[in-house]
Amino acid sequence: MPASYHLDLDARKICGAKIALLPGDPFRSSMVSGHLVKSQGHTPPEKPLAHKREFCTYRVPFGRTSVLVTSTGIGGPSASIALDELAQLGVDTFIRVGTTGTIQTHIKVGDVIVTSASVRLDGASTHYAPIEFPAVAHHEVLQALLAGAKASCRSQKGKVHVGITVSSDTFYPGQERHDSFSGHVPRRFQGMTEEWRRLNALNYEMESATVLTLCVAWGLRAGCVSGVVVSRGRKERVSAKALRLGEERAVETAVLTVPLLIG
Ligand code: URA
Repeated sequence: MPASYHLDLDARKICGAKIALLPGDPFRSSMVSGHLVKSQGHTPPEKPLAHKREFCTYRVPFGRTSVLVTSTGIGGPSASIALDELAQLGVDTFIRVGTTGTIQTHIKVGDVIVTSASVRLDGASTHYAPIEFPAVAHHEVLQALLAGAKASCRSQKGKVHVGITVSSDTFYPGQERHDSFSGHVPRRFQGMTEEWRRLNALNYEMESATVLTLCVAWGLRAGCVSGVVVSRGRKERVSAKALRLGEERAVETAVLTVPLLIG
């Protein structure tokens, strides 16, 4: 049985896992899997199942099944590879676990955003379905994530928000950041943050459009939870403290959501 080209996984290694949690950062794979293992009262595995390029996978035994944690790297193209190869191996439920910048003033750093649907400001999803096709979360994953996020917010400070995410291929121009190399935001994106805000979009991130579009197109289940690490009305840069807080909130929500999806 050949291993998948990029992820270096095969059916034997993943032991029938049907659910995958998808952080972006390969180092976050061990953090997510560590939390998931501890929620089961086990000791975290020291080594990943596979680690090739940006794709780092842990397998966490969960009751009578297994859950995968696979990092996707940043952005749609690498996320599409992770999704495609995991789906080929039989994974049918995906939860993107990430960080985000909010564009609404009532949302604060440390809050949790559950994406109901994404603006497709990526390129990768257009290779799978035309731009008119919706990037929506699966209703079962959405409900489970909301329950997980509410449970997480009961034990921590912070609020849960649900709504539209703007999912961009770029961190700088596509999210209208001026603290880039050139400082220039192309005309197409100038004023877009205010436009999205008025359209009641909640946040910027970089993978959900790809994850949700592909899964809707394939008839698989997907959702996205993000921890807020910056409030774009106030500033562009993400502080280390805010990053830690946002990461923890998103990971805790995802870990509390898994049992609700396994049943
Ligand atoms: N991730 C993003 O894509 N944008 C942000 O502002 C923060 C995290």
